[in-house]
Amino acid sequence: MIVAELALYQLARLLSRSQVAHSTEMKAALRDQAANTAYRADEMSRVLAAIDRYGLRIQGADVLDLGCNDGALTAQFAVRQPRSVLGVDVDAKAIARAQRERAVPGVEYRVSTTTQLPVASESLDTIVSYDVFEHVEKPAVLLAECRRVLRPGGKMLIGSWGWYHPFAPHLWSTMPVPWAHVFVSERTLLRACHRVSLSPWYTPTHFELDANGNRKTNAYTEESIPTSYLNKYFVRDFERVFMDSGLTWQLDLQPFGAVPWTKPLLSLPVVREYFHGYFWAVLEKPHS
Ligand SMILES: C[S@@+](CC[C@H](N)C(=O)[O-])C[C@H]1O[C@@H](n2cnc3c(N)ncnc32)[C@H](O)[C@@H]1O
Repeated sequence: MIVAELALYQLARLLSRSQVAHSTEMKAALRDQAANTAYRADEMSRVLAAIDRYGLRIQGADVLDLGCNDGALTAQFAVRQPRSVLGVDVDAKAIARAQRERAVPGVEYRVSTTTQLPVASESLDTIVSYDVFEHVEKPAVLLAECRRVLRPGGKMLIGSWGWYHPFAPHLWSTMPVPWAHVFVSERTLLRACHRVSLSPWYTPTHFELDANGNRKTNAYTEESIPTSYLNKYFVRDFERVFMDSGLTWQLDLQPFGAVPWTKPLLSLPVVREYFHGYFWAVLEKPHS
């Protein structure tokens, strides 16, 4: 619908200078690959805080960073003196970058597949998967693998969000309009993003530039976001997968942004899908 597309475009233009979708630091991080990697590396303090809050073990443990990309976080686990750290990802190019640029003693990187982890059964104490599970095509299959590779008593920490999170489609820079994907079809959403990306007032991110620094003309021309990129799982879908995983689990939903009034909304079944900012899930392999 052209009216919805134009309305969304205008809203995006209005909000593009705001910090609604992302902070100044996040905007700077999107300028090039190196800045993005440095920004990701800074996320480690958030991950370590969650590791401590939920009682996961790193010191002396065999640790897996599941969905490690180019290892921006992985190598940093070494600070906590683990027995071993392994980073795996389905993205072979990212793993090659990690092996090239983040080789640290005791830290290894391997390519995994969507159905199999390249890890021996019952060989890990701790699995951390940060900002990954919204991308996982078959979360139930991957969790079955996690169950296989964890030792009894081993724990897993997942940090992710559901599909009705205000910015779930990962269209950060072109679409700073919260819940845009809830209000219009994906086709309209992507057309509005395409329009934004070609506007003279818009500064493209490094994801939208080709190797020569020119704007890719074919960005946002798909009809929908492929589920091989984002699985579009709601919080309740993740809960069902956790429930069927054979692992004990607890879910901690965080409110959206620094808006305290959204906190009570997180206990309401449907409403929480819209107002959560992030979730941490802690899963444990029982001693059978
Ligand atoms: C947003 S990145 C997060 C990277 C890293 N955890 C960090 O925080 O910097 C998501 C990563 O998940 C990976 N991924 C998606 N599905 C996966 C799967 N089934 N198994 C392993 N990695 C996967 C992607 O290739 C991508 O590198």
